[in-house]
Amino acid sequence: MDTLIYYFSATGNSLNVARDLAKALGNTQILSIPNFVDRETVEASSKRVGLVFPVYAWGMPRIVAEFIEKLKIDKATYIFAVVTCVAIQGNTLVALQNALRRKGGDLGAGFAVKAPRSSLMKLNNLDRIIMRLDRKRKKLKTTEERFSEILPVVKNKELHKVETSSLASGIFGSLLHGMALNSFRSTDSAFVVDDTCKACGTCADLCPRGNIVLSNGRPTFLHNCELCHACIQWCPQFAIRHPNFDADALQYTHPRVKKTDLQHTRLVSTEISNKTHC
Ligand SMILES: Cc1cc2nc3c(=O)[nH]c(=O)nc-3n(C[C@H](O)[C@H](O)[C@H](O)COP(=O)(O)O)c2cc1C
Ligand code: SF4
Ligand code: SF4
Repeated sequence: MDTLIYYFSATGNSLNVARDLAKALGNTQILSIPNFVDRETVEASSKRVGLVFPVYAWGMPRIVAEFIEKLKIDKATYIFAVVTCVAIQGNTLVALQNALRRKGGDLGAGFAVKAPRSSLMKLNNLDRIIMRLDRKRKKLKTTEERFSEILPVVKNKELHKVETSSLASGIFGSLLHGMALNSFRSTDSAFVVDDTCKACGTCADLCPRGNIVLSNGRPTFLHNCELCHACIQWCPQFAIRHPNFDADALQYTHPRVKKTDLQHTRLVSTEISNKTHC
């Protein structure tokens, strides 16, 4: 394989980007980051490595940051990243670049693209302040709008300035990121499963953290949550709720992604190496 793309995606936006890039690049394998949760190290042995994932709380999702720590990277490997977000990427790509540098690699190109909102949570005052501080957010474009710009950079292994939000919102977001991620872990304590649950198990199958166990078919949450929303957004009954959900928010998943595309069942290492897409 010329290229490996590691992706994390809960509602499909990032998987859709990863798949479009893989198709356009050719000879590319795409691999789901949650499948590596139980691994101690991940050897990213390819000439070109891509990382595609959503922005969570102005930074990397916890599962992605942990994955980067496991990476074994050859200095000569060209690494690129595309992060999907609604409006504010903060310093996500700078944090990724720093993490890769600590591992002996580097981020050659980092793009932030606009995508539909996966979170159903109400915005709080901090969200609003950071949004107000970010003058660049209105200029954010979708992957579709930027594909002809991104593809040649990645294809030709060109360097591209790692993209950031405006300075103030980047700094503010970075300061709050760790605290926010920690609070996400136990947000599932307030998840309520209503009586429409038909005990199908989809939520448990799709949880990237293995954070859901079924008891008589109904989910119980184990407080190691990413707040990724996969369980909520893919539930056929929309039965999982949180008191802080926006009352007007509708259930969302990417129209080109099926739930079977996202099954995160963690695989043993031999299975991973035999798969073309997992
Ligand atoms: C817990 C959580 C935190 C998020 N934080 C941000 C954020 O800080 N900035 C932003 O623009 N979008 C944020 N989003 C929106 C997602 O980054 C965006 O919808 C992304 O495209 C989802 O990707 P996916 O469909 O691949 O899961 C957040 C979403 C979730 C679930
Ligand atoms: S996906 Fe929804 S309906 Fe299925 S078990 Fe989970 S909560 Fe119940
Ligand atoms: S419990 Fe739901 S929100 Fe939390 S990590 Fe699992 S799928 Fe994501």
